[in-house]
Amino acid sequence: MNIKKVAFEPMNKVHEQELKILEKLLQKLNSSQDYKKELEEFIKDVENHFSFEEKLMEKYDFFAKIPHKMEHDKILNELYQLKNLPREKVKEYFNNHFLEWLENHIATIDTVTAGFLNMIGAKDEF
Ligand SMILES: [Fe+2]
Ligand SMILES: [Fe+2]
Repeated sequence: MNIKKVAFEPMNKVHEQELKILEKLLQKLNSSQDYKKELEEFIKDVENHFSFEEKLMEKYDFFAKIPHKMEHDKILNELYQLKNLPREKVKEYFNNHFLEWLENHIATIDTVTAGFLNMIGAKDEF
């Protein structure tokens, strides 16, 4: 995966941590081992990742906070549905959709958000 660095370091930390958890999940998915625990852990991490960014956007009244949150909500709803799908479908979802989505999300709206937060000297304290 090719994850772009953004201009606001706390967001890079969150993205790096998410990738580690994602790798663990993908490993389980590609083996025949049970992956449910890792899927739960990953979804929790995505929830935290998104709510971290949303709190920052709220706090500093980022101009595109609504479309950014809409992208988050759409993908989270897809992730919730994976809990009821068979392994092959879950694998397919990550390989054919999610990985590309994440790279693209970080390279576009996250990058713009981070540039804004960096420019105004935002602090990741709430
Ligand atoms: Fe992000
Ligand atoms: Fe985001």
